Amino acid sequence: MKKLIEEISEEVQAAFAAAGFDASRGQVVPSNRPDLCEYQCNGAMALAKALKRPPFEIAEAVAEKLGGSDQSVFASVEAVKPGFLNLTLSPDYVRQYIVRMLHEKKYGYELPAHPKKIILDYGGANVAKPLHVGHLRPAIIGEAVKRILKYAGHDVTGDIHMGDWGLQMGLVITELKERKPDLPYFDPEYTGAYPREAPFTLSELSEIYPTASGKSKAPEGASEEERKAAEAYKAAALEATKRMQDGDRGYRAIWRHIMNVSLPDLKKNYDSLNVSFELWRGESDVHDLIPGMVDYLKQHGYAHESQGALVIDVTREDDAKELPPCIVLKSDGAALYATTDLATIQERMKEFHPDAIYYFTDKRQALHFEQVFRAARISRLVLPETELQFIGNGTMNGKDGHPFKTRDGGTLRLEKLVNETGEEMLSRIREGNPDMPEEEAREAARMVALAAIKYGDLSNQPSKDYIFDLEKFTSFEGDTGPYLLYTIVRIKSILKKYEEQGGKIPEARLANAESAAEKALGLQLTRFADALESAVKELAPNRICAYIYDLANAFNSFYHETKILSEPDEGRKQSYIALINTTKRILETGIDLLGFEAPERM
Ligand code: ARG
Repeated sequence: MKKLIEEISEEVQAAFAAAGFDASRGQVVPSNRPDLCEYQCNGAMALAKALKRPPFEIAEAVAEKLGGSDQSVFASVEAVKPGFLNLTLSPDYVRQYIVRMLHEKKYGYELPAHPKKIILDYGGANVAKPLHVGHLRPAIIGEAVKRILKYAGHDVTGDIHMGDWGLQMGLVITELKERKPDLPYFDPEYTGAYPREAPFTLSELSEIYPTASGKSKAPEGASEEERKAAEAYKAAALEATKRMQDGDRGYRAIWRHIMNVSLPDLKKNYDSLNVSFELWRGESDVHDLIPGMVDYLKQHGYAHESQGALVIDVTREDDAKELPPCIVLKSDGAALYATTDLATIQERMKEFHPDAIYYFTDKRQALHFEQVFRAARISRLVLPETELQFIGNGTMNGKDGHPFKTRDGGTLRLEKLVNETGEEMLSRIREGNPDMPEEEAREAARMVALAAIKYGDLSNQPSKDYIFDLEKFTSFEGDTGPYLLYTIVRIKSILKKYEEQGGKIPEARLANAESAAEKALGLQLTRFADALESAVKELAPNRICAYIYDLANAFNSFYHETKILSEPDEGRKQSYIALINTTKRILETGIDLLGFEAPERM
């Protein structure tokens, strides 16, 4: 189904042609003076220059044609000085458009003729390290984009791409060896089976990594001796990492234990954010593919040796600044972050034949991805038409404008942030609903907290930094997640009352709008496809946020002006109910695309 703006543009274009002008000048845009009209066309202004005729004259000629034509679309068409066309839609046309929308799939959003196969790489948690707030944005944004692209008809696969093969594993192994050197994993003579039980619990593991990491770095102002100890510790961890990667039996067994202990906890954390992945793969999964890829790169001359390392030159002549080469292997033969990313691209191409791969991480990784993308193209790991895109996110800052920290200055764990927001929400919900059963209040608090966190994030452009302001984000008023949920809950409660009074919710029994607020709400409903389209095109969940926020505002204005349930005219009442029910459905679709949901009460 065509978007409303396309339909009305066609009307205006036909009028331009009928008046003897270039039809393409009839493009309509939303009004920038909503007090005067709903839509406008500025084509006469541009045309005036080309034809050297007064713009008002052109606008008038077009308005005359539109006025003379079928009256079903526009209630009024007005040529205004210096040469704009002000357009107001007929309530009947708006009503019919909404009814048609409701009969279509996806509210009339035009599904792609050729859906794309898209891989989304988001989340990117590092196993064995605590999940900290730095991983919040890639998870939230990636999940929302996945839902948006799926809804828009594409074939999307989300892959968490865990960091599960790096130095943190070596650090844990090194620390474990220091503490329990007698474990069979460290005995090179041992050939028996290893214990099934991990030699640490989750809470031990979450202490082991930071301890080990701390020991590998000398603090500022450390003595010579301390520095040497840290250096030696780090060297041991690097050595352990390499041994694990090279396939040492005992070290691989510890690696398994680390994975087995960490993954359920990771899953739990992502679950609590309503974030899920079709694939739980990681850097480790492509380890065995690296030698083959390296051979391929060498054989075809895509990679060459430089100071002992194996590199791919990625800089181009037109680069303002030279791009450092993409390092495939270090001089000691070790693989790097770029190596696993290239091997992962090769594997994804073989296994899924994607049209596009989108990556979601902190924008500070932009250079890394630029190098990897260029290297992948140069070495033909992807097809010329394969789209590779990096969606770098800005930083979540505290109120002081610096990256969000705990009160004592440490990095905040994700779990803690979610729990603290939940507590704040719970007290607000209890305040407003003293009689709500405890369990319901907790469940509602969980949902609203998630909306607060996610909407606070997603309503910003992904690349922008933003300030995490708990008080603002959890407020029931303003451009917040809780405000949207509150609006949905309000509609749910009206509908419930209506049903309790014996009413049945009519899906599409709409009457023509009578009040301005009613019309404005209907118009806002017709814009769903526009919002979805820009969200898809720009990979920008903030487009959905802005749309549903406007929709919630339009609903609340209507609600404050209209007596819905006490409307005496049964037909009008049914129409109101159909209108707000549609509003609810579209709001619910919107928040589902963003990755959160609304409770029954709050
Ligand atoms: N584990 C990485 C990090 O914590 C993010 C991984 C992003 N994805 C990728 N294919 N490199 O920074």
